[in-house]
Amino acid sequence: KITALIMAGGRGERFWPKSRKNLPKQFLSLTGDGKTMIQLTIERILPLVNMEDIYIATNRDYYDLVIEQLPLIPRENVLCEPIGRNTAPCIGLGAIHILRKYEDAIMMVLPSDHLIKYNSMFVNTLKDACEVAEMGENLVTIGITPDYPETGYGYIKFNSERCNKRAFEVDCFVEKPNLEVAKEYLTTEEYLWNSGMFIWKVSSIMEKFKSILPDIYKGLEKIKSSIGTTEEEFTLEKEFYNFQSISIDYGIMEKSKGIYTVPGAFGWDDVGSWLAVERIRKTNEFGNIVAGNIITINSKNCIIEGANKLIATVGIEDLIIVDSEDATLICDKRSANDIKKILDNLKICN
Ligand code: GDD
Ligand code: MG
Repeated sequence: KITALIMAGGRGERFWPKSRKNLPKQFLSLTGDGKTMIQLTIERILPLVNMEDIYIATNRDYYDLVIEQLPLIPRENVLCEPIGRNTAPCIGLGAIHILRKYEDAIMMVLPSDHLIKYNSMFVNTLKDACEVAEMGENLVTIGITPDYPETGYGYIKFNSERCNKRAFEVDCFVEKPNLEVAKEYLTTEEYLWNSGMFIWKVSSIMEKFKSILPDIYKGLEKIKSSIGTTEEEFTLEKEFYNFQSISIDYGIMEKSKGIYTVPGAFGWDDVGSWLAVERIRKTNEFGNIVAGNIITINSKNCIIEGANKLIATVGIEDLIIVDSEDATLICDKRSANDIKKILDNLKICN
């Protein structure tokens, strides 16, 4: 049986001010076709998994958004975390809910805020990954050929000789190396990027929690036995507050053996910053990407998103301008990754 857990609790800070604490990236439409990232995520996997076997893990603040954007997902499959504790607890929560329904199942863990160009190639890659996950206690990742030394990704050192179907055995998994190390990895050609998608049997990942993150495992067991009882809310809240905040990448992947990677080439984009918009949408004859009520004169290579007001620019280049009801961003394109720093300064509700 194939099930899916969609991780949708991230805050998406680099798309400020379009993404907000109350409306992060996964709930936005960035492609221009009106569909939000999380809606596209579900649509893509429907050839592989039934709607009733798709689970969404999110912060409870986003429950209403999830229900609104995904009305066909059964409500009991929308799992609410009382507080964000990063992806390890989120995945654990998904796993125990799936275990209640199926004794064991394949669990595909997918982020909700990535874009994929070639859907059928993507589905075929996932199918291969499911087969390898089925074959044992394997943790399977989808690897992407890197093209620059990104420091915001995980890197997977794969063994090109030990290959199982389309999957390569992984020698080591390194989460977010520094620039120097990332550059070195790129030159060896022995590394792939971790796409942040994971495929395994629920039993396999539970075993990993048990041996590598035993405290989280114990908490998960308590939550599991409380599901459906009057204690459920209380236990979930209590255990989540006590959980260590840790990602699956640092918490389990870096420390595990038995990892495989299936390389994928399906036009993957994790839409990490406003610059990704240039890869997604077409620029006009001046190299601008504009949305809303915009007049540009002698302006080129800009990304401009209006809200309610007219935006007029004259003689500018390489800027990102994003207006919203209560905040306006003006940013040099070279600094797009620093937008999240604004939020550090904005201690008030953003
Ligand atoms: N439910 C829930 N709860 N979801 C969460 C939480 C949480 O506490 N934190 C993050 N998420 C969701 C995000 O919304 C996103 O869909 C996904 O989990 C991954 O989290 P990110 O915060 O975006 O991770 P990252 O981008 O820093 O790194 C991961 O993805 C990279 C590829 O995009 C890692 O897996 C890297 O190794 C990988 O290269
Ligand atoms: Mg991400």
